[in-house]
Amino acid sequence: MSTTATITAEGPNAEQIRYWNEQAGPKWVALQEQLDRQLADLGTKAIDRAAIVHGEAILDLGCGCGSTSLELARRTEETGSVLGVDISAPMLEVARRRARDAGLRNVRFELADAQTHQFSCTSRDVALSRFGVMFFADPVAAFANVRRGLKPGGRLAFVCWQALAKNPWMALPLAAVAQHVPLPPPAGPDAPGPFSFADRDRVSGILKAAGFSDVGFESIEEPLTIGGTADLDAAVEFLLMLGPTQALLAQADETVRAQVLKAVRASVAPHHGPSGVQLPAAAWIVRARYSR
Ligand SMILES: C[S@@+](CC[C@H](N)C(=O)[O-])C[C@H]1O[C@@H](n2cnc3c(N)ncnc32)[C@H](O)[C@@H]1O
Repeated sequence: MSTTATITAEGPNAEQIRYWNEQAGPKWVALQEQLDRQLADLGTKAIDRAAIVHGEAILDLGCGCGSTSLELARRTEETGSVLGVDISAPMLEVARRRARDAGLRNVRFELADAQTHQFSCTSRDVALSRFGVMFFADPVAAFANVRRGLKPGGRLAFVCWQALAKNPWMALPLAAVAQHVPLPPPAGPDAPGPFSFADRDRVSGILKAAGFSDVGFESIEEPLTIGGTADLDAAVEFLLMLGPTQALLAQADETVRAQVLKAVRASVAPHHGPSGVQLPAAAWIVRARYSR
């Protein structure tokens, strides 16, 4: 098992390496259970669409705290194997612990940049990702690299977000934060980030340029239970700790933070019911094949 403990913030994705080790990674570790409850259904759909059969060798791209890697390891069974790859050391530490605790011996993790890592095995059956492929500085180079880790006929399946405007679960709290904290100038729609794969024509172009074919998209539009919790205050706290919202609040003092908390609470409270805060979300499940 590879146990590389650190990664240097260098190369094309240096900024993301810093972000996922210093800022976002520790938050995702702290919120792992809530995030898993919120994202489980979308991850399961992507795994289902990959149609894993036992004995297959699988790559999990941007595997984070390992939830999908563990599920893939169960589906491919003892005769198969899973390699989870991620640039975040704190998240991989959690993934390794969970695999050990679950007694899964057919999954291992590597701290590496999926865009540049030289995969030692070049004949895997499947590459999968739950929201881990939208952060590459050069997505064509990244997917070409992933494709080199697959055998001809290998399958690719991932889930990514559609546009921010179709994801009120993120747009609503962000608008509430913006009442009190100036938003930075918007990054271009193609800049690495959670919504960079919103445009299906762009994604299709990237995958084809990287050597994939049979690219297909399935739109999933269903509400998310924020933080996977029934509790309104826990859902609000969860939203403040995540993604663009937490990045904006990183420099805020206590007074501003309290104002933001109040604003976010007011914006999501109307969507709170017995099973929690339910807000609309839209994702793509993307599938492709490497046919030489
Ligand atoms: C939104 S999180 C998703 C994590 C996990 N797949 C899940 O669903 O819980 C994005 C993940 O992609 C990883 N990531 C970003 N850029 C990466 C890269 N170039 N190579 C490998 N992993 C990367 C991050 O470290 C992070 O764990």
